[in-house]
Amino acid sequence: MTQVISVVQEKGGAGKTTLLTALASLMVADGAKIAVIDTDPQRHLESWAKKEQTRLDWLFEEDDEKLLPTVKSLKKSEPAYDAIFVDTAGFKSAMAMHAIAAANLILIPSKANEADAKGAKRTFSHVQSVAETMEREIRALVVMMDVDAHTNITQAIIDALDAQNVPRLNAMCAHRTGFKEMTSTGMAPQGAAKTSAQSVLADLQSRGLINFYRSSSWQK
Ligand SMILES: Nc1ncnc2c1ncn2[C@@H]1O[C@H](COP(=O)(O)OP(=O)(O)O)[C@@H](O)[C@H]1O
Ligand SMILES: [Mg+2]
Repeated sequence: MTQVISVVQEKGGAGKTTLLTALASLMVADGAKIAVIDTDPQRHLESWAKKEQTRLDWLFEEDDEKLLPTVKSLKKSEPAYDAIFVDTAGFKSAMAMHAIAAANLILIPSKANEADAKGAKRTFSHVQSVAETMEREIRALVVMMDVDAHTNITQAIIDALDAQNVPRLNAMCAHRTGFKEMTSTGMAPQGAAKTSAQSVLADLQSRGLINFYRSSSWQK
C-alpha cells in the first residue's frame, strides 16, 4: 500500500525540506519507488530533485484543492509507489491542512530552539483538529533537526515537548554539514549525515510507521 507522508511545521526553517529529502533519498537508495510533491511556492525541493540523481518522481502542486486529487491519482499508479512525500511551506495555510488530510503520517521537524518547539506544538494541535474533523487517526511525530545532542538547549526543548505530550521520535537528525550539501549535490545525505538520517528512518520503521522494508527488502 502506498503511504502518504506529509512534512508540516508552521515555523519556517525548521528542517522540513531537509528531513523529507533525506528520508526519501535513503528509501530510494534501498529500492523504494517514491514520489515527492512540493507545495511550497518557494520550490526549495525543486533544485534538489531536478538534479535527478535520486531517481524519484517530483511534482509541484500549488493549488490546495488539487492536492488530494493529485495524491489519489498517484496512489493508483502501476507499479505502485511505496511512499508519497508532501513538502509544505512554513506557515499555517489551507495547503498545510490539505497536506495533513491527505496523509497517514505527519512528520513535524523542530530545531532545538523555542520558536521551533512552539511551532511544533501548534502544528501538532492543528493535526489533531484535522483528525477530529475527519474522524480518523492521523499519526504525527516531532523529529528533532540540526541538534547537538547532549547540550542543555536540546534537552530543554525535548523536555518541553514531552511535558506538553507532543509525541516525538527518539532518533534525531544531528547538526551535520552533509545535510546542507544535499541541495547542491541532489543526492542522499553522505557521511555522518547519512548515519544520522538512517537512524531516523530506522526509528520510523521499527515503530511500523514506514512499512517499506517490511513489504520489500526484508523479504529479499
Ligand atoms: N540536521 C541538519 N544539519 C545541518 N543543517 C541543517 C539540518 N537540518 C536543517 N538544516 C539547515 O537548516 C536550514 C533550513 O532547513 P530547511 O530544510 O530548508 O527548512 P524548511 O524546509 O522547514 O524551511 C537549511 O539551511 C538546512 O541546510
Ligand atoms: Mg522547505
